[in-house]
Amino acid sequence: MLHFQVQLVNVDRLFSSRECAMWGANEGGIMVITHKISMDSPNFSITLPSISEQHTILRQLRHELLLQYRPILQQGAGPIRVMARMVAELEKRCRQLHITEEVMQDEIVNRTIGDVNLRLITECEGEPGGPGDYRMMAEELGIALPDEDINGYVAPGETYLWLRNQMLECERLLLSEGFDLRIYDILAVGNPILRGWLAEEMQRWGISVTREQVYLGLGAMDSINKVLCGLSQMYREQGLTDVAVLFPEPGFNIPEWQARSYGYRLLNYQTLPEDHFKITASQLEELLENDPHIRIIYLTVTNNPTTFAYSPTELDAINAVVSRYNAAGREIFILADLAYIGTGKPEEDQARMATFTSPDVLRHCIFVSSLSKTHSLTGERFGWVTVGRADIAAAIAAGWSNSMAALPADWQLRYMAYVRLIRARPWLVEKLRALYKLRRQRFIAQLQHIDKEQHLFEHIFVDDDATVYNWSQLRPGEDAFSLFEKTGIAGVPGSGFGYSDEFVRFSIGVIPVPEIPLTIP
Ligand SMILES: Cc1ncc(COP(=O)(O)O)c(C=O)c1O
Repeated sequence: MLHFQVQLVNVDRLFSSRECAMWGANEGGIMVITHKISMDSPNFSITLPSISEQHTILRQLRHELLLQYRPILQQGAGPIRVMARMVAELEKRCRQLHITEEVMQDEIVNRTIGDVNLRLITECEGEPGGPGDYRMMAEELGIALPDEDINGYVAPGETYLWLRNQMLECERLLLSEGFDLRIYDILAVGNPILRGWLAEEMQRWGISVTREQVYLGLGAMDSINKVLCGLSQMYREQGLTDVAVLFPEPGFNIPEWQARSYGYRLLNYQTLPEDHFKITASQLEELLENDPHIRIIYLTVTNNPTTFAYSPTELDAINAVVSRYNAAGREIFILADLAYIGTGKPEEDQARMATFTSPDVLRHCIFVSSLSKTHSLTGERFGWVTVGRADIAAAIAAGWSNSMAALPADWQLRYMAYVRLIRARPWLVEKLRALYKLRRQRFIAQLQHIDKEQHLFEHIFVDDDATVYNWSQLRPGEDAFSLFEKTGIAGVPGSGFGYSDEFVRFSIGVIPVPEIPLTIP
């Protein structure tokens, strides 16, 4: 049993006046209760406020933080960061007040950041240790350390150690082929064996490329940055001063900051809800016609934040427009972000990728891939770029040599070990997909349940069975802050993705989703 110690703390540092009143503080001093003080302590002990009082205190704190943070967002600060900071601040204050974890879990649901923390998976469907025991994914993906307790499952850590051994074997393999990672990489683009393996991975999608067309990156984000860097140099050498990049919105916005920093002109295009937030071929045609300087289209094939994916027909139509312009002598590239390809139904993802395989389409494509979402390995930062045209691959190599002179040796070895792991365990993608799906469905059910009682949503979108998000539209008068105040669920406002704050994106990644029966099919 826990006991609690009473301490005198400076009020101004911890509380607003209203909170102090709730805690019965007087004249700058307040009683704060700390956990885990033994009965032997010379200090006297008291009990925590009741659970319902803790809920009240937390809600009050939440309200006050909203008032503090909403203007920060309105001043234009990055919405994802503002929301994440607000949640972190609330959690910190709650801990200072020793609000119990249970109360915090009820009242603070962090759905801001888009990754699944493998260590925090609690879901186990069916037999422990069986195929539906998702807690084992930390072990199966090599994250869990030997003997680490993952929510009741003690991991052997065999995969963790296996990966390390594979790194050793891969280094031996590289040395046997005359490639030493411990000296400068003259071409600065990474080791040929790994690039060859990744070219093979792309070939599985039907993308016919050689290893010379594959470059390594630190995740998709860094890969996009390097492509934009390399292309900007290429355009400068061609004497082009006005180069525009088309960004359909809502979209993942970091590439926009990157494009701006390389001096591109940004063309942000607001897609429509009735098109499921996807740019159509005719809209694209009109934009290209009206702006002769658009040379790059950033296209997220399966979208963050919306969870909608382009169908093969839509992709065919878009590719046909771009091919037509290229055939007529205007060079336009599609920078295709594949971060969520692999999180969709396998046959549907295969069909999407098949639209890029014909030579006249492939030549205008630059693909960006990553294991962050397909394998929930965000911290590994494993990404790569595949360039459809060999001459363009050579032309943009400066994007790599100018920055890092290739990836650090151990990272390349780690990436190689991971390629071997995902080849040895192809079922990992499917298992992870099942977890994402389970959570997305549960979350939609939860939102529907909340909406029945509180009427907060105009539209709860049902995804295209991919990604780790939900995208929904709020009723007039509501925003991500009011939603947080009323439900405790913190999402990211639409403006974080270049769209309207009527919309909000939730991630099912950070924490599991409680089970509520689905009310709408
Ligand atoms: C569309 C898209 N591309 C790229 C990334 C970043 O991926 P990585 O972790 O590989 O840098 C994200 C992350 O959310 C994303 O949504």
